[in-house]
Amino acid sequence: MPEPEATQTLTAIRARLARIPTLGSDELEAEYIALLGRRQGELTILLKALPSLASEERRSVGAEANRLRLELETAVAARRAGLREAAAARAAQVTDLTMPGRAGWVGGEHPVTRVTEEILEILRGLGFARAVGPEAETEWYNFGSLNFPADHPAMDMHDTLYLDTGAQPPGDREGRILLRTHTSPVQIRTMLRVRPPIRVAIPGTAYRKDTFDPSHAPMFSQIEGLAVDEGISFVDLKGTLLHFAQAFFSLDTKVRFRPSFFPFTEPSAEMDIGCQLCGGSGCPACKGTGWMEILGCGMVHPKVLENCGVDPERYTGFAFGMGPHRITMLRYGIPDIRLFYEGDMRFLGQFA
Ligand code: DAH
Repeated sequence: MPEPEATQTLTAIRARLARIPTLGSDELEAEYIALLGRRQGELTILLKALPSLASEERRSVGAEANRLRLELETAVAARRAGLREAAAARAAQVTDLTMPGRAGWVGGEHPVTRVTEEILEILRGLGFARAVGPEAETEWYNFGSLNFPADHPAMDMHDTLYLDTGAQPPGDREGRILLRTHTSPVQIRTMLRVRPPIRVAIPGTAYRKDTFDPSHAPMFSQIEGLAVDEGISFVDLKGTLLHFAQAFFSLDTKVRFRPSFFPFTEPSAEMDIGCQLCGGSGCPACKGTGWMEILGCGMVHPKVLENCGVDPERYTGFAFGMGPHRITMLRYGIPDIRLFYEGDMRFLGQFA
């Protein structure tokens, strides 16, 4: 190979070397073969022809040709690796436009929360303001102040969870610290804080040492109602609760009051509503009676008023307590209270 031709070829190959990093995959392989292919590669041919060159040029051309070969191999290997990496990155973020869309995840209130808010809204329309109180209570607020005698059998119903805090209760007569078994202690806290007229609705959580079964949970919701004023009678209680039942369930809902007993009310009653599932003819949900019990109520016991410094000669009041978990079950025909606690989206999603 004549000398000027070899030098020209090397210059041309060096120019092509500079373009290696810009080549696509097919171009790169074609260029590799064109330059370094075992038989037809331009640089290969030049290297093979080195022995035919005059010794002077052989040294300079040969040195440059071998340098070029090394640089070409390196540049091609680097470009191959770069292309492989780019392809992998692309594969990792392929967007398949034929895939079905993902629906937005719409959250919703828990059904018991929703029912609680609805009940409070109805009561608010009757002038009952929302009030709350602590879940950790003392024996006095939970029982004593509400006229439970120390050994009264009603206390057996309240299988109480005591808190072993090691802390001294705030007053000597207040007794041990416990998780409130009902929201009724907030009646006391309210009457101690504000003077009549009082109308409050108290949502909250209560605790009892029950194990989970279809109708019991150790932690459950209650809404307490309390009205105290001059001249309040049982008629006001009945009117309020009838309005509530008809606003919450339906306008033709019937109610009935059965005599009952609570230490903090006298007289005491339980209110039933006509069965929401069979309309009163009798079905398994109402155990064939046509009625469902939804709350306890009564006229505030004079002792309870006295315990709060409210003069029972001047003031009377009524109170009621209901369970939003239970009421939600009645309204939607939910057979097992445990469904509210499991967080199963197939259940909760029906209310979103
Ligand atoms: N505190 C009662 C319970 O948990 C429910 C109750 C009944 C509350 C009658 C009241 C009431 O305010 O008047 O079993």
